[in-house]
Order: sequence, then structure tokens, then C-alpha cells
Amino acid sequence: MMKIAVYPGSFDPPTLGHLDVIKKASSIFDRVIVSVVENPNKKATFSKKERVRMLKKITKRFKNVEVDIFKGLLVNYVKKKRANFIIRGLRAVSDFEYEFQMALINKKLNPQAETVWFLPFIEHIYISSSIVKEIAKYKGNISCFVPEEIVEDIMRRFK
Ligand code: PNS
Repeated sequence: MMKIAVYPGSFDPPTLGHLDVIKKASSIFDRVIVSVVENPNKKATFSKKERVRMLKKITKRFKNVEVDIFKGLLVNYVKKKRANFIIRGLRAVSDFEYEFQMALINKKLNPQAETVWFLPFIEHIYISSSIVKEIAKYKGNISCFVPEEIVEDIMRRFK
């Protein structure tokens, strides 16, 4: 059976931590679908189209990775894509409670899909999209937090 994984997230913007997770997932699963979704609890800075464009740029070299957008419940999207895994990145213990609740609810709603967590590489464990945006807002150097192909795309937004 093909191992198909969906990696959902806001990716507002994508960071080196996200890229670590994508790299690791790409080496384990047959197909990885990185999918941008609007998180109703967070107001996005970048449009979905912009986020997709950035994700496509940084994942070009991974032949089994594709980028998509979805609306609505994650479990419905996962079913539609015939995926059997949901990928999430974990950075700190503080992420765990929310991730644990989400994984259990998703499992209840779609028992066919198993949530798998990846840790970013240790040197990127402290990076978050919101920190990147704050640094960019004050014209700081974000190049050690996001893939170099999208540094300009992010900085342009804060000009
Ligand atoms: O990168 P984020 O913002 O932490 O990602 C959270 C996300 C988008 C994965 C989550 O909010 C989600 O799955 N949203 C889709 C709606 C849904 O299925 N909600 C129920 C989750 S238990």
C-alpha cells in the first residue's frame, strides 16, 4: 500500500523548521502533500496563494512532495487524498497539548489516518513563523530562520 501523508499547516510563512519536517517526511513516505489551510484562530499575513508559491519554491527538489490548499475539516481532505498519515511538527512540550488533542480528535473522525510527529533538526527547534514575521517587521536578518529562496518574498511584504 502506498504511504501517503498530508502535512497541513498555516505556513505563514514557511520556515527552516517546516522544511526539516518536509525533508524527513519525504524520505519516509511515498507521497507527501503539504497543504496550506486557513487557521480560523490566526489572522494570516500572507495569502494562501503566496504561501503555496513559497512552499513550491522550497520543495522543488523533492520529487515526492506536492503543495496544495484545503478548506474545511482536515480529516475530510485526508480522505479525499486517500492519505493514511497526517504529519505535524513538534518543537516544544508546550506544543504537545494542542497537538495531542488534535491527533485524538482526527483519529476519532477518521480512524484510517494516523498522526505522525516529527522534530525539526535541533538547530531549528526554536523557530516559529510568528518570530520570523516580527524580525522581518523590524528589518532584521531572517536568513538563518527561513529557506534562502523565500527571504526576499518575506521581506518584500514588510517594506
Ligand atoms: O500550522 P497550524 O496553524 O498550527 O495548523 C493547524 C491546522 C491548520 C492543522 C488545524 O487548525 C486544522 O487542521 N485546521 C483544519 C480544520 C480542522 O480540521 N479542525 C479540527 C482539528 S482537530
